[in-house]
Amino acid sequence: MENLISLVNKLQRACTALGDHGEGSTLPTLWDSLPVIAVVGGQSSGKSSVLESVVGKDFLPRGSGISQGAPWFCNYTELMVKENTQNSCTLRIKDSQILVTSLLIYSFVALPNCIILAISPANQDLATSDAIKISREVDPKGERTFGVLTKIDLMDKGTYAVDILEGRSYRLPHPWIGVVNRSQQDINKNVDMIAARLREREYFASTPQYKHLTDRMGSEHLAKILSKHLENVIKSRIPGLQSLITKTTAELETELHCLGKPIAADAGVRLLPVVYLRIGTRFYNLTICMHVFSYKSQ
Ligand code: GDP
Ligand code: NA
Repeated sequence: MENLISLVNKLQRACTALGDHGEGSTLPTLWDSLPVIAVVGGQSSGKSSVLESVVGKDFLPRGSGISQGAPWFCNYTELMVKENTQNSCTLRIKDSQILVTSLLIYSFVALPNCIILAISPANQDLATSDAIKISREVDPKGERTFGVLTKIDLMDKGTYAVDILEGRSYRLPHPWIGVVNRSQQDINKNVDMIAARLREREYFASTPQYKHLTDRMGSEHLAKILSKHLENVIKSRIPGLQSLITKTTAELETELHCLGKPIAADAGVRLLPVVYLRIGTRFYNLTICMHVFSYKSQ
């Protein structure tokens, strides 16, 4: 999962660099071709918890803006992975909370390449779920939506979420995934991710009503499913991406030529680190050019 997120983020950074090259340019950006993930849900529905457990790391500052959510709908969180070395990576969260307006949220989740992690808490009526409301509007067929049911452990005694988890309450093409995240008390007691995942699995396995669903539930399974889905999406986009990158690079060079000579000392063409894309046994090698724009018109 981390590798995949890292890859997507590298590509997106490269694409942003490519796309961000001046006003009025007619060059296409690659943004539209790459998958982005939006974690969508009402306030305190468990968005940050899900994000953390999917990535398998604690990284969100507790009590910061990111945990508070906007008044009625959701915040979205953009996951960025920085400095990905072989065994470690540093995570950076770009909290777009300040920019979040319902318009922005909708334009983001409406993108056909946006994967929606729709977070609904099991201790609230699904009919009132903000996440489902949004998903239904922008992705009526649910093809880009992964329904995640949190707080299963907080349901009223004797009630179970089987109808939701088996897709009878609200049908989605991707199966619903139930999770049991850490409670506030767990967080206060510093219960770590590994312990939390073990306990989550145990929760499903030891509840007779959920036992048969155990292998399809939990954060680890969600991470796997999401990873697989991202891989498939990326694979399907590779041919288009490659030709777009080639085209864009060529067009950039033409544009650069027309612009004239660099005037600033640091101006010129820079090569971003080569982006390697490995899918299965095949390697894809994408070299991205970034231009510094301090040019004098001719
Ligand atoms: P967000 O505002 O949507 O990002 O929600 P958070 O992830 O910050 O969760 C809000 C609160 O609910 C926190 O205190 C979490 O510990 C708690 N919480 C989230 N998911 C679960 C869950 O599955 N079970 C329990 N017991 N608590 C949860
Ligand atoms: Na939060």
